Amino acid sequence: MSALPTNRTYAEHFDASDPLARFRDRFVHGDEPLIYLDGNSLGRLPKATQARIAELLAGEWGTGLVRSWERWVGLPSEVGDLIGEHLTGAAPGQLLVCDSTTVNLFKLVNAALDAQPGRRVLITDDDNFPTDRYVLQGIAAQRDCELRMIRTDPDQGLDEETLAAALGPDVAVVSLSHVAYRSGALADMARITGLIKQAGALVLWDLCHSAGAVPVRLDDCGADMAIGCTYKYLNAGPGAPAFLYVRADLQDSLTQPIWGWFGQRDQFAMGQAYDPVPGIERFATGTPQIIGTVAVAEGTKLLAEAGIDRLREKGIALTSYLIHLADEWLEPFGFRLASPRADARRGNHVTLFHPDAWRMSQALIAAGVIGDYRTPDRLRLGPVPISTRFCDVWDALDRLRQIAADKSYEALPTEISRVT
Ligand SMILES: Cc1ncc(COP(=O)(O)O)c(C=O)c1O
Repeated sequence: MSALPTNRTYAEHFDASDPLARFRDRFVHGDEPLIYLDGNSLGRLPKATQARIAELLAGEWGTGLVRSWERWVGLPSEVGDLIGEHLTGAAPGQLLVCDSTTVNLFKLVNAALDAQPGRRVLITDDDNFPTDRYVLQGIAAQRDCELRMIRTDPDQGLDEETLAAALGPDVAVVSLSHVAYRSGALADMARITGLIKQAGALVLWDLCHSAGAVPVRLDDCGADMAIGCTYKYLNAGPGAPAFLYVRADLQDSLTQPIWGWFGQRDQFAMGQAYDPVPGIERFATGTPQIIGTVAVAEGTKLLAEAGIDRLREKGIALTSYLIHLADEWLEPFGFRLASPRADARRGNHVTLFHPDAWRMSQALIAAGVIGDYRTPDRLRLGPVPISTRFCDVWDALDRLRQIAADKSYEALPTEISRVT
């Protein structure tokens, strides 16, 4: 994109020829002219979800009451299959919508450790998402295992040589993010999975920032396990249930640590002893969250209609356009790209370093652009392909350069007061 002009007409031209432009109207928009570049944190609300949930509340819950469980009970695996088919390259019977990403990580790592008694080392990297690092730290402490934390460049992502050097016959599980939450660096799932399996360990991928953003091919890559959330690119809403994947031929050799009744064989026999069902449903715990699961289904169907390959193509165009404008306009003001520059090595968000990123992000919000801040000095911008226009990217970067040029951000308080 480096030869592109920087005038707004170009963005308008991209929008006019965008085959996915019509999907923007499939989401709820408020009256304010907001530019939203944070759908990689909390996705927008699809109109279809609003309608489907209203229908579920009035009909299935409101009047159907407990009778509706008959159709609800199969949803976690049905919707899991939908995600597998359209977004994560998994054949049916390997994905389940349940619990949170955090809880699913806890379940799968414990199960994987139990299945390999001779191996007592867990590996992750020091720029992995906090919950991933904390859950692994907790398991290592609880089970007297070693957590081997490998160093990762916060801008460029995981270095495969560093990972290879940390592998050995004592390693049970390697847990990594497919797309890094801070930099957006995209790991080579096929190659890294091969490396880990060669060392005899199991691999677990966190897909929170890649499911719905980049094509994921879990089966083709030979991945063992994966987890991911649904409130980002899948647009299922705050706190919607997460998903987990376990490769078919591994499922029955794993016993998860939470022995809940939804994983029990012949559940309503209410038997005395825990006896997990064969297959992916043994990774269920308690009563599934139906309203959230329905929202996951609607969000996934919308992405399926747009097509993950077309979404990826537009995502690359949007992020490389954003980088182009940042290079042209923002570098003189102390910004620097803190994401991989090569399209193939980047997910769908772009991170910019600036020493005053916090105040920049606040000034940007005041100017009608919602992006994200990541400690200590990163501005994270996610132009989600299904609902973002090229003009949104142009307008956001234009406002950012004005803020940087007139130094209006310097009038804002410096302390970081946000919670999430
Ligand atoms: C990579 C990654 N893993 C996990 C999580 C969060 O997990 P949970 O949904 O359990 O809060 C996030 C949230 O942003 C994330 O980016």
